[in-house]
Amino acid sequence: MSESIKVPDGYSFVKPINSGGFGSVVEMMENSTQKHYAGKIIQCITPKDRERIAREVSRLRKFAHPGIVGLKEVASMDNSKVIVMELGGQSLADIVRDHTSRGVLVAREVVYRVMVDVSSALNLMHNDSSGVTAHGDVKMENILLFGGGHFKLCDLGAAESEDVSSTRSVMSQLYVSPERMESETGRATCSSDVWALGIVLHWLLFGEPPFKSQNAARLFREIGSFQVSLGRVVEEKNERF
Ligand SMILES: Nc1ncnc2c1ncn2[C@@H]1O[C@H](COP(=O)(O)OP(=O)(O)OP(=O)(O)O)[C@@H](O)[C@H]1O
Ligand SMILES: [Mg+2]
Repeated sequence: MSESIKVPDGYSFVKPINSGGFGSVVEMMENSTQKHYAGKIIQCITPKDRERIAREVSRLRKFAHPGIVGLKEVASMDNSKVIVMELGGQSLADIVRDHTSRGVLVAREVVYRVMVDVSSALNLMHNDSSGVTAHGDVKMENILLFGGGHFKLCDLGAAESEDVSSTRSVMSQLYVSPERMESETGRATCSSDVWALGIVLHWLLFGEPPFKSQNAARLFREIGSFQVSLGRVVEEKNERF
């Protein structure tokens, strides 16, 4: 049995979902309704932590959409804030990992659903009348499966100005666009979100990302010089259909 993690008053801990540098995401139950939610528990120690959580919460409030994970409330606990959200299932990264280990590609209907659901969520963020918002960290780990086979974007806290250099996780680097990589500010834009969604599409269709070096410098060289051969990938992978 997994060790219990402290959750806000009014909720009971059910099980851990994920943990990372930010803290942890857990499944928890609201005692009064017995409904299950996801709680993203973030240590709020530095001003940067507080900024990140404020950004994520304000975006979740602003962008209520079927393709974006729904916010229930924000709770405080010791030195942490807990973002209470609707509970999703597996991430697209887990789904693809599972398929890859069995040597199969995800069904085409799933590819279609991901693209429709995530594009319509990005469309809302990108065309907001009070100012364009880029998601800034579109990747398979941040796309979650919900009921009815629908997908939703989560993790809306990335700063648009976030540095794309080695401090970012290797997984995020696989999705970096050439213009973001080359720009002085490293700023995320709507077009860098669209590029990242293209990387997701390639990965789903062919079972691997188009740029895949594990070494950041080599990866950025591959992306910058567009060292990819889409045609060859198509021929090889089609045999698996
Ligand atoms: N509402 C949710 N329902 C179910 N699982 C979730 C939910 N929100 C997040 N998760 C899971 O927790 C993981 C981490 O959450 P999130 O992406 O919001 O944090 P993060 O800031 O990216 O953390 P890090 O990048 O440091 O791992 C997600 O990839 C997903 O697997
Ligand atoms: Mg994430």
